[in-house]
Amino acid sequence: MDATSAGHAGTDPDPLTGTVTASDTEGCCGTAGPGQRTSSDYQAEYTPAMADKWDQVISWERRDAGEAEFFTSLLRDEGVQTVLDAASGTGFHACRLSCSGFTVVASDGAPEMARRTRQNIVSRGLDIPVYVADWRRLSGIVPGQYDALLCLGNAFCHLFSAEDRAQALREFHAVLAPGGLLILDHRNYDAILSAGFTQPRSGYCCASEDVNIYPSEVHDDLVRFRYDFPDGSSHEVTQAPLLKDDVAAMLRRAGFDRMRTYGDLASAYDPMQVDFIIHVAHRV
Ligand SMILES: C[S@@+](CC[C@H](N)C(=O)[O-])C[C@H]1O[C@@H](n2cnc3c(N)ncnc32)[C@H](O)[C@@H]1O
Repeated sequence: MDATSAGHAGTDPDPLTGTVTASDTEGCCGTAGPGQRTSSDYQAEYTPAMADKWDQVISWERRDAGEAEFFTSLLRDEGVQTVLDAASGTGFHACRLSCSGFTVVASDGAPEMARRTRQNIVSRGLDIPVYVADWRRLSGIVPGQYDALLCLGNAFCHLFSAEDRAQALREFHAVLAPGGLLILDHRNYDAILSAGFTQPRSGYCCASEDVNIYPSEVHDDLVRFRYDFPDGSSHEVTQAPLLKDDVAAMLRRAGFDRMRTYGDLASAYDPMQVDFIIHVAHRV
């Protein structure tokens, strides 16, 4: 599949990355959410500086060790061959799964993150098409249908309105083959909102030792995470704190079934003692 040849009305190939860029992603379907936050604001948070630092936030080595074979085993057990990582970030899962033999396509809505994905792919000698694609327009930008779609790293919580979440899930549904697998995670906001944030207990998606991540604001409808880097710089990322059962209900409404969850990477877990919830669902 050739990312540069994928046509879409209103899209242009990015001259630097060779990817297809949605020309009017910003504000395309953004709806004012809590505190006037919109679902397009993530674009301003993943700046060149943040993209450069993301691999410092969660080092690939630590992540690899923490996740071990969790995703590769899960995908293999389900007979998956083709994977779309729709929140590629800097490309960790795309590269990891490509190295494990899956046919992978990567996309991200933030051009700087897609650019970093591309750099990481090239520096590893891999060949993975990369698209700049907001989830709410995914099927119009990323061609094909996939056996599995990943939306990991607490990415989905960047959507601040129910309409945008429903639209994104419709698009995930559209790019999945019938029976295809959606894997979507989020921080355990049930625990954060009721008991407060605790520093990660598991090896899943945990921060590097030299980067301090903590919520600088916690409200029922908005959580702002601050990342303090050893060079004295800091970045903030703002999220809608989605609850586990609400996400499961959204998935059901969007046409997914045979759902299950993992707490961090375990199928049996104490819902108040895990850092991340991972939802696994099949497209009906
Ligand atoms: C916290 S990062 C996680 C990246 C990667 N999955 C990981 O685990 O390292 C969240 C990513 O989601 C992307 N993102 C947020 N909202 C998006 C949207 N509406 N459409 C596409 N990408 C989005 C951001 O650009 C960012 O790269």
